[in-house]
Parts: sequence; structure tokens; C-alpha cells
Amino acid sequence: MSDMRDMKDRIEERVNLGLRGQWYAVAKSIQVTSSKPHGVVALGEHIVLWRDKAGKLHAVEDYCPHRGARLSRGEVHGDHVACRYHGVVIDGAGTIVQVPAMPDCALEGRRAVTSYEVAEGADAIFVFFPSAEVPVAPKLNWLAEFSDPDWTGFLCTSPWACNYRYALDNLADPMHGAYLHAKSFTLAFGAKQDTMKLEKTDTGFVVSRVEQVGKNFDWTEMVFGTATWCRLDIPYPAAAGPGSDMRILGTVTPVDAHNCIVFFWRMRKVTGLEREAWRFLYRTSLEERHWNVLEQDREMLSNMPDDARQREMLYQHDIGVSRIRQIMTRAAKQQLAAEDAALRAAE
Ligand code: FES
Ligand SMILES: [Fe+2]
Repeated sequence: MSDMRDMKDRIEERVNLGLRGQWYAVAKSIQVTSSKPHGVVALGEHIVLWRDKAGKLHAVEDYCPHRGARLSRGEVHGDHVACRYHGVVIDGAGTIVQVPAMPDCALEGRRAVTSYEVAEGADAIFVFFPSAEVPVAPKLNWLAEFSDPDWTGFLCTSPWACNYRYALDNLADPMHGAYLHAKSFTLAFGAKQDTMKLEKTDTGFVVSRVEQVGKNFDWTEMVFGTATWCRLDIPYPAAAGPGSDMRILGTVTPVDAHNCIVFFWRMRKVTGLEREAWRFLYRTSLEERHWNVLEQDREMLSNMPDDARQREMLYQHDIGVSRIRQIMTRAAKQQLAAEDAALRAAE
């Protein structure tokens, strides 16, 4: 019985800190350069990123093996990163390549910190977090719009002081648009009552309003793969210029159990001159309006208690929320079982 209890807690802990065996977005491409190391925290792990002289990305544990200073406080040294405290140089594999204060130091050549696999695309940098089940990074499941030349967009990121699951739940809950965002530019339309339906897809599910299509934030697709994504459309009023509805592609990265970073790409299928017009309009007026909407989400979610899940009373509209939980719980259970099996095999 206590084993079962332990397992339940372990599953909850694993989901709360982020499932492993997945890619997570950790930074915008422009944040990582060859002139300064960039520190991030994801799934509770401190990671330092930098680019070498050829522009290639590297990521290792943000921890100097000498005495534990943050490498992200140091500098990029040629193709490597150097700790500012006493100058120790680490390469992208996490190996100590130089201890400048001590000639022929025995630490040189030692692989001392973990390194991470990195992927870059759609103006963002992703890091892979291995698990016992998936120790080597599989290909990242980019969404099709990212490589489709007809689509164009802008990436916006924001730190939210809430568990990342609230952000995912919020995306799988189209009904909140009609209430939380009722006074916004794009979401002020449509009925305030509806039922929800959920359809499974090959990669996840679509949750949508039954009565309302094409009026507001009416559906979300959740895509589970080597990274977790969402896709949704926001109809644009005529004042937003030419092109399709605005499509939002998103992913959320847990920083730790109480903080996350949201990555949203605001996309539009629009080409030629109209594309330039929309991109201009976006920067000059639409972006601020979208930030205001996002701020409503952030403000609501970051003020919810951490343990709200223990006391909630779900109703029909929460089918998307329940489905996410089912999928994540099942994945966590599988990961933990693989870890336990690996431990037993090593004994
Ligand atoms: S702590 Fe990094 S070089 Fe000493
Ligand atoms: Fe929202």
C-alpha cells in the first residue's frame, strides 16, 4: 500500500517538474551569442548555453567543477566557456580543457559536468532532457507551420510564476476566452455558454466548442511528441488587416515546480506585400494588444494556489484539462517504471 502511495507522489512530482525524455524550449535564438554565456533554468536544472566561433550551440550544466560557481557568470573563451572565478575552461561536452592558474593540472581532460543536446528552429533554442526510457535525443517534432513558407510569425516569451501545468490547462480550455478575455480586441465576440467536445488525433487531441466555430478562441489542438505543443486560431477582426486568422503555436517549459516560461508564436498565413503590411501592423499596434490578453492569463494563473489541483471541481468544459492529465500521468508512470528497472538492473 505504501509503495502505491509513494508511486502516486512520485508521478505527481515528475509531472509537476516536467516529463523527461522530451525537448523543451529554453531561450530565444537571439539570447544566446558567442560573446556571453547565457544561463537558464528548466526542469529544475541550471544550464549554461553559448555559441562557438562557428555559431554552433553548446549547453552544459551551469556549474563550475572546480568549486561550483555558475559558468553563466563567466565568459565565452574561444569555442568554450570559462569560469570567472579562477578561469577554468570547459568545452561543450562538459570536459575541463584548461586550468589556467595551474600548469599541467590533473583535472584537464576530465569530463566533469553534464552536457545537453540542443536544437534550434523557429527563432528558439530547445534542450533535450534525457530519461531512462529515452536516453538519446530523438528528432524534435516541429509543427508544420514553422517550415511552411506561406506562414510568418513572431515569437514571444514570458516568465509566469505558476506551475507550467496551469499554462497547459489554460490552453486546453477554450471557454475561458469568453470570460477572462471578454474585453479584448480579438476575443470579445461569441456566446458565453456552450459545451465542449474532444476528438483524438494521431498526436494528441482537439478540444473545441460545440456551438461556436470561427468566432473566437473556439478550439485548441494539443500535440504530444518529443516536445509538447498547442495550436489554436484566433479570428481577427477586419481592422487587423489582410490574411488568415491568427494562429498561435505554443509550448511551455517548467522552470521549477512553481515557475514556467511560455513560448508563443503568433503566426499568420499571409504572403507578399500583405505579409509586410501585417508584420508592420503587428509591431506597431497588434503586439501590444496581444500582450494585454496574455497578461490577463498570466495574472490569473500566477495568483492560483499551487495545490489547486487537490481541491478542484471539474465540469464538462474541462475535458481537455482531464485528458492532458491522463496523458501526462501515463507518461510519468512509464518513465518512472523504466528508471526503476534500470536501477534494479544496475544493482
Ligand atoms: S569555481 Fe570556477 S574556476 Fe574556480
Ligand atoms: Fe487566455
